[in-house]
Amino acid sequence: MSELTDCLQTPLPKLFDFPADISLPSDLVPWALDMFAANLIQADMQIREPRSGKQGSEITYFDQQDPASIERFRLGIQNAQPVHGSLALIDYCAGEGVVRDNADWAWQVYNTQFAQGLAKCHPMGNYLRASLWTSCGEHRYEAHCDLADGYLLHMGGHKRVRVWPVPKKYRRKVIFNHSDFEGRMSSEPIDFELKPGQILFIPSGAMHEVIAHGRQAAVSVSFHMGSPFPMLTLCAQLNRMVRGGEVSLPPYMIKTDKFNLYFFEPTHFIGKASGSDNGMPDELIKQLSGVLQSKHVDSKMMRRLLSNWWRLAMSRTIYQGPYPERV
Ligand SMILES: [Fe+2]
Repeated sequence: MSELTDCLQTPLPKLFDFPADISLPSDLVPWALDMFAANLIQADMQIREPRSGKQGSEITYFDQQDPASIERFRLGIQNAQPVHGSLALIDYCAGEGVVRDNADWAWQVYNTQFAQGLAKCHPMGNYLRASLWTSCGEHRYEAHCDLADGYLLHMGGHKRVRVWPVPKKYRRKVIFNHSDFEGRMSSEPIDFELKPGQILFIPSGAMHEVIAHGRQAAVSVSFHMGSPFPMLTLCAQLNRMVRGGEVSLPPYMIKTDKFNLYFFEPTHFIGKASGSDNGMPDELIKQLSGVLQSKHVDSKMMRRLLSNWWRLAMSRTIYQGPYPERV
């Protein structure tokens, strides 16, 4: 297994050098700009400008419907303005997905460096998203956290990434969301001045802020991977297993925006004691049945239902990614 994936599901950021066998696009900035030009509609491009008459700055998004936007973005990069662009290169889950044209090298990197370790760490199914990031001119990407573990392959220019390791209180939570940015920033941050050829591991749920330094375009590709399981998806799957069960979640758990979505992480419980029937480990049953509600399913039946779900999830891939199906 690659050394890189040894840190999956660990709480601290870590810096690596590129493995010797990694191969990347040779003409980096032109390649990145061509990717944005060829996929303008799907790209996200922005510039950070001073607020007129006020302190601070605000973000203006480039119009993705306007073909001239790519020229403005290109000029921004050339003139070291605080521009920033991102574009998904790979979306892959449960054996299905899309790799963008001219991003097959990223698929190669995934296959050689990550695929095996990811499958081993997340055997109940997992997802991968690779994204291209191109920014310049002290552009600041504000502090946020991601739903899955991330590896930032830094390929050109300079970037400072400030990471707040996940505070202990969040590491212990079985059912969690990512809404409490302030609480997640209560740990002592660590700064990484990334140079080309380095890979930064950023744990899922760890807050981080990214600044592109200097006049040269900072180009990176991130690989986010894992299996955070949405509570809403669990609920929908349980309802398909028990006719008329009407299993539901408390109202605060049914929000569907990224940072208010609730998850649990099956990976943390694989191999934990689960009685004699290979059902769901007791600790997870306790936590899940503490929030799942139903007028028709009593607590004994809920335990059985959850254990049946666990056996199903262990025997075939029912993971559909971190975004829940509509229920
Ligand atoms: Fe991020």
